[in-house]
Amino acid sequence: MVKKYLRRKPLEYERKIEEGVFDTQTIGALRKLMKLNIIDSMGGVISTGKEADVFKGYIKGELRAVKIFRIETTGFKDIAPYIEGDPRFRLHGRKHEIVFEWAKKEFRNLGRAFHAGVRVPKPFKVLRNILVMSFIGNNSDPASPLNAISADQIKNPKKLSKLLLDNLKNLYQKAELVHADFSEFNVLMKFLNEPYLIDFAQAVLKNQLNAEMFLQRDAENFVRYFVKFGLKFSRQEILAKIQVGKA
Ligand SMILES: Nc1ncnc2c1ncn2[C@@H]1O[C@H](COP(=O)(O)OP(=O)(O)OP(=O)(O)O)[C@@H](O)[C@H]1O
Ligand SMILES: [Mg+2]
Repeated sequence: MVKKYLRRKPLEYERKIEEGVFDTQTIGALRKLMKLNIIDSMGGVISTGKEADVFKGYIKGELRAVKIFRIETTGFKDIAPYIEGDPRFRLHGRKHEIVFEWAKKEFRNLGRAFHAGVRVPKPFKVLRNILVMSFIGNNSDPASPLNAISADQIKNPKKLSKLLLDNLKNLYQKAELVHADFSEFNVLMKFLNEPYLIDFAQAVLKNQLNAEMFLQRDAENFVRYFVKFGLKFSRQEILAKIQVGKA
């Protein structure tokens, strides 16, 4: 609960500042999101990473996922290939401005995917380095990423491969996007059988420079993941299904 949490636990807050997450500007942005009624309080951490930390948030008791992109400690030097040739975004300015663009890019990509019917979190708002989206979980527990689920818990790998492929196909054909970081790390499994694609900041328009190369890599990751279940797809077959399969 950030409002209370900030007042009652200044030490926690200061520790967060040291970690480069809740700097004063981020606090300001969280307050603004509260004023705008996007969230009314913050909950615990769902995940901490190199580029972003994801927290639970609440609005009128309903859960949200709040992704806060790190401004100080990011490895954002490699983002150029994902922005070049995309007229929606620019790659200049100070570091924090680039991070804001990156957050905006994830918001816009999620919106495009969501409206095309791809199973992704619904984006609600982006403000500076903070993205608020629907919470993917099993009731109040966050859904596990596919990489954290053991093979024997996947009861029907063939069905999972089909669901994922349908989503990648809709993403490409309807939203006209390539995920560009598709792997089991960026799939959340609701109730162990409903896969959601997440992490869209690096996703690119399908006509963009480098999109074809990213799509090939996504297809390779798809093939590699399913080999352990004895499902042998070829990369070409997967590419064909995504690009020209019936949508
Ligand atoms: N909408 C959501 N609902 C529930 N959990 C989420 C949601 N979005 C992200 N998460 C959790 O946060 C984790 C990281 O999210 P994401 O993949 O978008 O960030 P990232 O850019 O990979 O961050 P980093 O590279 O710093 O780890 C996910 O693996 C998942 O556990
Ligand atoms: Mg990720």
